[in-house]
Amino acid sequence: MGIKFDESNRLFFIETAHTSMCLAVVDDEGFLCNVYYGGCVGEDDLTYLLRTGIYPFLPSHNSRDRGGFLDMARMEFPSSGVGDYRKSAVCLRDEEGHDASQFTYVSHRIFDGKDNLYGLAADGKKIRIPATFGDNAQTLEIELEEKVLGVRAYLSYSIFEDSDAILKSVRLENRSDRTVIIDRLLSSCLDLDGGTFENNEPDIITLSGSWARERRLDRRRITRGNTEVYSTRGVTSHQFQPFSVLCGRNTDDSHGKVYAQNLIWSGNFICGSGIDQFETVRSYIGISPEHFTWNLKAGESFQAPEAVLVFTENGFDSMTHIFHDLFRDHLIRSPYLHKERPVLINNWEATYFDFDTDKLLSIASDAKRSGIEMLVMDDGWFGKRNDDNSSLGDWIVNEEKLPGGLKRLSDELEKMGMKFGIWFEPEMVSPDSDLYRAHPDWAVAAPGRTPCRMRNQYILDITRNEVRDHVYESVANVLRNANIAYVKWDMNRALTDIGSVELDAQSLGRFSYLYTLGVYDLMGRLLEEFPDLLLENCSSGGGRYDAGMIFYSPQIWCSDDTDAFERLSVQSGTSFVYPLSTMGAHVSASPNHVTGRVMPFDVRGAVALSGTFGYELDITAIPEEDRNAIPEQVEIYHRYGELVREGDYYRIACNAEHAGYYDAWMSVSKDKRSALVTYIQCRAYPGGKGRVIKLKGLEPSAVYEIKLVGSDDENSCWCSRDKKAAWEALSTDRLSGSSLMNAGLIMPNLPGDYAQITLEITKK
Ligand code: DGJ
Repeated sequence: MGIKFDESNRLFFIETAHTSMCLAVVDDEGFLCNVYYGGCVGEDDLTYLLRTGIYPFLPSHNSRDRGGFLDMARMEFPSSGVGDYRKSAVCLRDEEGHDASQFTYVSHRIFDGKDNLYGLAADGKKIRIPATFGDNAQTLEIELEEKVLGVRAYLSYSIFEDSDAILKSVRLENRSDRTVIIDRLLSSCLDLDGGTFENNEPDIITLSGSWARERRLDRRRITRGNTEVYSTRGVTSHQFQPFSVLCGRNTDDSHGKVYAQNLIWSGNFICGSGIDQFETVRSYIGISPEHFTWNLKAGESFQAPEAVLVFTENGFDSMTHIFHDLFRDHLIRSPYLHKERPVLINNWEATYFDFDTDKLLSIASDAKRSGIEMLVMDDGWFGKRNDDNSSLGDWIVNEEKLPGGLKRLSDELEKMGMKFGIWFEPEMVSPDSDLYRAHPDWAVAAPGRTPCRMRNQYILDITRNEVRDHVYESVANVLRNANIAYVKWDMNRALTDIGSVELDAQSLGRFSYLYTLGVYDLMGRLLEEFPDLLLENCSSGGGRYDAGMIFYSPQIWCSDDTDAFERLSVQSGTSFVYPLSTMGAHVSASPNHVTGRVMPFDVRGAVALSGTFGYELDITAIPEEDRNAIPEQVEIYHRYGELVREGDYYRIACNAEHAGYYDAWMSVSKDKRSALVTYIQCRAYPGGKGRVIKLKGLEPSAVYEIKLVGSDDENSCWCSRDKKAAWEALSTDRLSGSSLMNAGLIMPNLPGDYAQITLEITKK
């Protein structure tokens, strides 16, 4: 394990416990090529894999066909305009418009640890960019040079002792005395030999969706050409994730090769893969070149965000574990990371804008009686906001709704023993607001155009210091004056009509990057002043669910779709990459407000239990039977919360692959002593004789006790007597880990659509 340089062959070896990456400095010119990435190979010289011994050879041996070399070489930092016609990692232009560049090796350094990344705000202020951190890291920094333009590139590769991920980032430095224009700078580009995959045609998996349908697994074959997902919305988006997987056709949850890439970034991105004429597969990820140009003045640097590369030969579950562990151990900074999160009740779906102090207190007092620990007051508490047409930006409490202000409400809640959380949408301004009337130029707008409204709101130009300071102070002031434990930071529209009074024509291409830095700056400042604040990120549901955000907020609202059946797909797609401890999931009312679907209360609870558990309903108005079920649900959350938060997550069955009939997953503690299994029967199966599910991740030789959760209590709302009888007729209470994993357990056929079975598995 570790990073090494073989000086005689000019080879770099980056080795984690189960993977190797090998880079080579090739030819007299010093091209940096990717020789190999995959399972461990030791320190052999594998440069024969580059095929430079055959035509078109190397430029120093065949200068006549230099283009042929560049057109097929597995370049680590491919540039545009010189003969590599595939997607490039970097595209630079001089002031006259010439866009050829070629980077070659200058030097490198290998050091213990890992540097923080910083971007430069418009006023030159250094703003930290989210990136992994930790003591047990080693880094290789390779310095490349573009001789004509006088630009240096610093490619950084870090590994952690306890992870199989490789972290890559790039910084450009303009050492010339002229401005160089960056049109494209991606964080990672990976060329793999076509023979890496069966039949040279891998599958690609992305997480795709829309509002209320976020991050569904989307798998298809790739062939010649490129398959790309992207965002130009200024947020990561509901539609796509900065994430993709390349895998063999036969790769499944437990077997097969997986090459995954992810970007620690919360703004515009591209993420793609393509196959070229020689079957080389090129994957790339980074900030989107659309709406991006950066005039890099003499002496300036530009930092691209960090990409995460993961390889495993053990299927998707193994990839998921690498991401989850990396993010929990090296990215999420919140003091809540390992803590039980308070069970909250959010009033959004309970009241929408129609609430006052009395209504909130009545919800809170019923909630308290049921064991819920925090009330979150959502949108509508400020300015004159009685619908979504006004007041964003006027973060002054509406005393007509909340007489006595937040202080009174938070004091009353405190007396009850309830914590208090509050909603903001800090990046926005309503045209109908005092803030907009006072500062119309603070809204993002292109001169001469009326900016496009979305949800009747505009975006504040937080690339500007003055605006950012105002936004910060208005949020911080509210927090300073009431006892607030939690903030839900929402963002309900995408960027359009980009323009900023402080950015001239030369600097406008920086806007979307600077906007993302602005968000990071605001969140960073907030957590610095309020280190104990529990921050939940949200963007019309899960429109900004990404690795950049979890650097600040340990939990993110997954989707505005709270329908438990729909959530099965959203949550299994989300947890493909992001830890369950980051997934905001609530029990909501039935029929569901988005889909109109009717589902039993315990099934809604079982699905919400695999995220940060809470409620999103009018507890005073739901059927008594459901209200009575809450204390047991809360107790189950407390009992198994740690397992879900800290354990290894395994997919057992996705309903999409089982004709919509059932879904199942489990969390296993790291020491394999306990596990929680959730099985959801989505549709009744007429005449069914029970369904086998095979558990995963247990110790084969250990003996485990199997218990139906809730079955000890005769009056359990979680486990009815009928369910218990159905379970007992087909179950056994002790089995070895190998039997549980190879033979499996039978889930009884339960009456009706939508039923849950939750099992506790404990090592004896
Ligand atoms: C979108 C969020 O996803 C909802 O949960 C809610 O907070 C609304 N915004 C409020 O406007």
